[in-house]
Amino acid sequence: MSKILKIAVIPGDGIGPEVIDEGIKVLKKMAEGSDFCFEFTHFPWGCEYYAKNGKMMADDGIEQLKAFDAIYLGAVGYPGVPDHISLWDLLLKIRKEFDQYVNIRPITLLQGAPCPLQEAKRDNINMLFIRENSEGEYAGAGDWLFKGKPEEVVLQTGVFSRKGTERIIRYAFETARRLNKSLTSISKGNALNYSMVFWDQVFEEVSLDYPDVQTHSYLVDAASMFMIMQPERFEVVVTSNLFGDILTDLGAALAGGLGLAAGANINPERTYPSMFEPIHGSAPDIAGKGLANPLAAMWSASQMLDFFGYEQRGRMVLDAIERLLTEKETLTPDMGGTASTSEVGDRVVQLLADML
Ligand code: NAI
Ligand code: MG
Repeated sequence: MSKILKIAVIPGDGIGPEVIDEGIKVLKKMAEGSDFCFEFTHFPWGCEYYAKNGKMMADDGIEQLKAFDAIYLGAVGYPGVPDHISLWDLLLKIRKEFDQYVNIRPITLLQGAPCPLQEAKRDNINMLFIRENSEGEYAGAGDWLFKGKPEEVVLQTGVFSRKGTERIIRYAFETARRLNKSLTSISKGNALNYSMVFWDQVFEEVSLDYPDVQTHSYLVDAASMFMIMQPERFEVVVTSNLFGDILTDLGAALAGGLGLAAGANINPERTYPSMFEPIHGSAPDIAGKGLANPLAAMWSASQMLDFFGYEQRGRMVLDAIERLLTEKETLTPDMGGTASTSEVGDRVVQLLADML
């Protein structure tokens, strides 16, 4: 009897469904000849659903999702629905309700992937960003006083709880130890004299439990320079919600662009399902034309395999993407090719078949 992994699929809007279809092809292929299989259940939630029903997901949507082992999400957002509604009522709702407080974004430059840095710097772009995903600068705390009046004041408050700060830093230390890599903390203790002084202090405290892990600590402004000038400095990286959001886009640019960037929203305790997604949006400008690059969606599928403990299979997906990139024959237009979304998917599946 093979193990059944139940996946909730939320293809979402725009190119979301197009890239998710290709990711599912890859997942199905990876289950062949293994001791597990996938059972996919599709949910039609997103902006089209909103247009018909006045809401982004079913009222009991969170309850429905609880029964699954993982969520595979395309992208949400489309012209006609304000972005703050599509984001907060679906994506952020799932992240919060399921306490997915770890956001993992691999920044690895695969062979053959485009990189804006000169050739000599291509080596050693191999970072694993661990971004705090539940509080910090994105806690939604603040106020808007005297709106529209001359004395108008807005406050946007960062929320750094001991629990929230410690658990993300501890998770990063555990990861660095498991991978036998160094851990870099990125903060800004000189200017943010409460939140980031506290962050640095917790990093110091937790580090005492991991004397075997080599640590570095950088200010965020210096870190953004080093990411370009000396990317080899970074292995496992832990940082706050806002800094992680910005630096991982910089990282995505280093590692081949949006068409390759993947992210996982993890609930480490596995009390709730974790969620895997390409980090790009719904790309309304190219939706419905077969032009979308499905590689980011496939990379997030590879993260899902890792999460379930099938790391060897996860690695195979990356190897297949790398082969596709080096042979350069089946690429979408954003990578300089002429292939369609599904042609790329079919080619990756074929490369995987050769490896199995
Ligand atoms: P976007 O990522 O959708 O597109 C930015 C640019 O990159 C566009 O020119 C697009 O064509 C291109 N692009 C993105 N993914 C691509 C892919 N896989 N293959 C080829 N080209 C690709 O970001 P944008 O335009 O700022 O947002 C569009 C909508 O998506 C908005 O409604 C936004 O709120 C939403 N969004 C949703 C996200 C999510 O669901 N996680 C993340 C970012 C944006
Ligand atoms: Mg972002």
